[in-house]
This record gives sequence, structure tokens and C-alpha cells, in this order.
Amino acid sequence: MILSIESSCDDSSIAITRIKDKKLIFHKKISQESSHKDYGGVVPELASRLHAKLLPQILKECKEFLNQLKAIAVTTEPGLSVTLLEGVVMAQSLAYALNLPLISVNHLKGHIYSLFLEKDSIFPLGILLVSGGHTMLLESKGLNETKIIAQSIDDSFGESFDKVAKMLSLGYPGGPIVELRAKMGNANISLPQPLNNKNNLAFSFSGLKNAVRLEIEKNTINDNFINDICASFQKVAISHIVQKCKTFFELNKQSNTWQHFAIVGGASANLSLREQIQNLADSYNKQLLLAPLSFCSDNAAMIGRVAVESYLIGDFVDIKDIKITPKIQSF
Ligand code: KG4
Ligand code: ZN
Repeated sequence: MILSIESSCDDSSIAITRIKDKKLIFHKKISQESSHKDYGGVVPELASRLHAKLLPQILKECKEFLNQLKAIAVTTEPGLSVTLLEGVVMAQSLAYALNLPLISVNHLKGHIYSLFLEKDSIFPLGILLVSGGHTMLLESKGLNETKIIAQSIDDSFGESFDKVAKMLSLGYPGGPIVELRAKMGNANISLPQPLNNKNNLAFSFSGLKNAVRLEIEKNTINDNFINDICASFQKVAISHIVQKCKTFFELNKQSNTWQHFAIVGGASANLSLREQIQNLADSYNKQLLLAPLSFCSDNAAMIGRVAVESYLIGDFVDIKDIKITPKIQSF
């Protein structure tokens, strides 16, 4: 079995995965959302202190499995350096004390492998990754063969939901609340579609966020307005994503690189986004892969699933050499 630790942002999580059949033997995640709510976003130092308290609490529950472990895995990139550090220090200590090899896991690969929990992987894949930190189109042929095709030039998709929620004092994280409010509203407020040129394969959300801010400033804030602005914002944000995905599907028509398309990352829990990408995939005759809703946001189970692949090819790091990389370097 492999014990995996995730602490890249505000979720403290540990998983134990059986190597031979990828079965999830143990998984626990303690979300710190309620502690960051008052600040309208994650406070890195607070998150770090909470990891230092919560990770050992979860580890206590894994005691019975410790003598069956073959490796320790931990998220090392990308993420907040002070929070990554908490997981890495715990992983180093465990690897040293139990004399086990250490595996370094890229968090974004984790999101990709959240598609394959307790099952075999499917590659090649076209991927839309939408999280709080990233918005990307990817092409992946496997564990160490992922190419970035497009990404956001400013805010990420999830982050823009968080910021809109903050401007409307709706709490954190914004994604689920804005989605809920959008369902109750009408998308009747006109907002500009970002990078509205289909040949420009990139994402941008800061202009849209500013347009929402201007609407908030000039209107009376009541429930109806909140619902309508959420509906209007979500409609344009998703339409922007769908437009760029369509260009990506068109490119793939020529290269025929992948037959399966996936949406991963915390914001892939958005049902309206899922529905519209499903329609797009259907129209191109591609199969859409999605992670279970409860494993879209950050969790150690997905880190453990990547770790199994790394273990099988003997991809380990030295305890003394393990590095934290806040920004993604490459896949
Ligand atoms: O992947 P994740 O858990 O953390 C990062 O790696 O960043 O993603 C969290 C992000 C947050 O910005 C959150 O607001 C967004 O995903 N999110 C959503 C939804 N659920 C979570 N965004 C839009 N719609 C949702 N239903
Ligand atoms: Zn994530």
C-alpha cells in the first residue's frame, strides 16, 4: 500500500491505496473552508497552521496500515509553498521513520488521475482542467507525457467564481454558491465574452470579473439582482470555456490525437459546465470522462492513484532532495 498526503491549498487529506488493484483502502479529507470563509479566500499561513494540526489527526486513524506500506507519496507542486511544506515535512518524517521510498506527485496530474480511481487509466486524452489555481487545455498520452495546449492569461475559472462570490458577500468557495444562485436567476444582464476570437486559444476571466464589479456598483443589491448577475456571469464564463474547447476539438479533428475528452479539477463539479461540454463531446463523437463529484476537488485519493503509477516505474525521490515548486514547471 502507499500512503499519500495532499496539502497544496486548504484541504488536509491522507489516502492509503493498495498497489495491486488501485483500491482505496482509506481516505479522509478535512476541508478548512469554514476557517477561511470570513476572509473570502484562502489565507496561506492560516491554512499551513491548520495542516500542521489536522494532518497528524488524520494520520492517527491510519495506524493499523503503517506496517503494510511500501511507499509514502506527497503533493509537491503546484500550490502554496507554506501549505505544501506541511505535507512534505510529514512525508519526509514518515519515509525516514519507516524506511520507505518517497514519491513526489504533481497536483494537476492528481486531478487527471481522479478520473481513474480504483480503475485502469485511459490515454490519450484531451483534457479541460478547471480549478481554483488553473484553467488549461491539455493533451495527455500518459503519466509523464502531458502537453499544455492553452491556459488562462490571468484569473482561473474557479477563482473568478470565488471573486464574484466575494464581491457579492456570498462566502467562500464561490463556485457552488454562484452555481446555486445562477439556477435561481435569469441571465439577462449583458456581460462581455472574453477573447471572443475563436482562433485565440487562451482563457481570460479578469475582464469578465471587472464587468461584474461594474454591474454590482451601479445596481441595488437584492436577491433578484444577485441571482441574475450570477446567472449572467456563469453563462458567459461557461460559454467562453465552451468556445475554446470547440476550437480544441476542431484542432483534434485534424490531428486525431484523442478519442476521449475529460473535465477535471474542483470546478468540474459545475453541472452546467458538465452538461454543455457533454453536448460538445457528443457533437464531435467523443466520449466524455468525468471524476466522481466527491473527488473533483482536492483530495489525497487522486494523489495516491498517481503514486501507484510512479511506484510501478520506480520513480522515487531522495528524502533530502525533495523539492517544493509553487508554480507548475512542466508535466
Ligand atoms: O481543484 P480545487 O479543489 O482546488 C485547486 O486545486 O485550486 O478547485 C477549487 C475551485 C474553487 O475556486 C471553487 O470555487 C471551484 O473550484 N468550484 C467551482 C464549483 N465547485 C468548486 N466552480 C464553479 N462551479 C462549481 N460548482
Ligand atoms: Zn486542485
